[in-house]
Amino acid sequence: MKPEQFVDLKYKPSGKDLVCLFRVEPNKISMRKAAATVALESSVGTWTDVHEKKYVNKLAAKVFSIKGNMVKIAYPQELFEMGNAPNILSSIVGNIFGMKAVKNLRLEDIKIPKDILNSFLGPKYGIAGIRKLMKIKTRPLIGTIVKPKLGLKTKDHTAIAYDSWIGGCDLVKDDENLSSQKFNKFEKRLSKCLEVADKAKSQTGEEKAYLINITDETKEMIKRAQLVEAQGGKYVMIDIVTAGFSALQTLREANFKMAIHAHRAMHAAFTRNEKHGISMMVLADFARLIGVDQLHIGTAIGKLEGDLELVSSLNEEMERKSVKATRKRLAQDWGKIKSVLSVSSGGLHPGHVPFLIKHLGKDIVVQMGGGVHGHPKGTLRGAIAARQALEATMQNISLKKYSQDHIELKDALEFWG
Ligand code: 3PG
Ligand code: 3PG
Ligand code: MG
Repeated sequence: MKPEQFVDLKYKPSGKDLVCLFRVEPNKISMRKAAATVALESSVGTWTDVHEKKYVNKLAAKVFSIKGNMVKIAYPQELFEMGNAPNILSSIVGNIFGMKAVKNLRLEDIKIPKDILNSFLGPKYGIAGIRKLMKIKTRPLIGTIVKPKLGLKTKDHTAIAYDSWIGGCDLVKDDENLSSQKFNKFEKRLSKCLEVADKAKSQTGEEKAYLINITDETKEMIKRAQLVEAQGGKYVMIDIVTAGFSALQTLREANFKMAIHAHRAMHAAFTRNEKHGISMMVLADFARLIGVDQLHIGTAIGKLEGDLELVSSLNEEMERKSVKATRKRLAQDWGKIKSVLSVSSGGLHPGHVPFLIKHLGKDIVVQMGGGVHGHPKGTLRGAIAARQALEATMQNISLKKYSQDHIELKDALEFWG
C-alpha cells in the first residue's frame, strides 16, 4: 500500500475503531505524508509497497483529521488481539517513535472501543470498592510513604509505619525502590507491618492498610502477592512501568483479594517531553484497563512536574496533559470497567491539602512522605498534622484558623510555610 492510501479525511470513525490523537512534527516532509507514515507503520504498512492482498488493505489505519500538528488516526479493532495490552501498545506506540519521517511524535490521547474495553478486567475495587474496604465514606484518604526511602532496617521501618497509622494515616506504603534488600527483607517487613497495622486498628478503631511493594520479576512478584494474601493484607503495590504491562496483567488476572496500588516511577521518561512520547492520560487509561485500583497522577504543586495552574488557562491540549484531567479520566464512566482512585503524591505537606481538595476533589488519596516524617516533632505529630489539615478542609475552616488550637498543624505550617 502507498502512504496516500492511509489518509481519508472524509472518514468517520465507528464504535469499532480505536482512535488515537497524535501530535506530529514532520521531518522535512509534508504533514500529510508524516501522518500517513505514522498510520502505515502502526498498522499494516511498511517503508515500501509489498503488494498486499486486498483483504489486508481493509485493515489499514486511517488518518481522518489533521489540524495543525494534531492528527487523529482510526484503527479498526480487528488489528488487535482482545485482552492483550502489550500487543495494542506495540502497534499504537511501537516503532513509530523512531521513524525518520517524524522529528517529534507524541500520543496525547486515545479512545478505546467497547469491545476492547470489555476484553479486560479493569479494577477489582475501584473508588467505591476502596471506600468500602477502608470504611471511609466521603473524605480523601490520607497516606504516607515510609521515609527515608531506602536504608531503614525492618524494625525502624515498622516503628515509623506504626506512628503514621496511630497519628491518623489510613494507608502506609513502601517507596518505589524498596523491595527486598538485605537491610529490609520483604517477608519480615510484611509480617511485622501487618502486625502493627492490626494493633493500630484496634487502638484507633479505624481501618489501616499497609501497601507493600511487591515489584520483582513476575514469578517472584506473584509469590510475594500470595504471601500478602495469606497474611490478610488489604493491598499490594507495584511499580507498573518498570515491572511492565504484562506483569501487571498477570498480577491482576491472578485475582488476589488485595487492592492494587500503582506507582508510576519512570513514567516521566516518556510523559514529560511535551513534543515526544506518551501522555500520562494514555498511561492512566492502560493502567485502568488492565486493572489497578489506585494510581499516582502527580500533585500539581509538589516536587515533581505537573502544573495544575495551567488548567485555569486551558486550551484542550493543556487540559489533556494536566493532573486534573487525568483524575477526571480515571473516574470517567467506562461501563463495567470500574473507576480508579487517583493518588496525589510527591513533595506534599499539610499546607497543600486545601489546594488539592479544591482542584482534585475528595475522591483522592493525599499522600505525603517528607510532609509527615519531616515534621519538626517527628512522624507521629506529622501524621496528626496531616489529618488535622484534612479535618479543617472538610469542615471548610482555614488551616490558619484551625491551627490556633491544633498545635501539630501549627508546627507544620510554621515549618513548611
Ligand atoms: C516519589 O517517589 O517522589 C513519588 O513517588 C513520585 O510520585 P508520582 O508518581 O506522583 O510522580
Ligand atoms: C512516593 O513514592 O509517592 C513518594 O516517595 C512521595 O514522597 P514525598 O512525599 O516525600 O515526596
Ligand atoms: Mg517515592
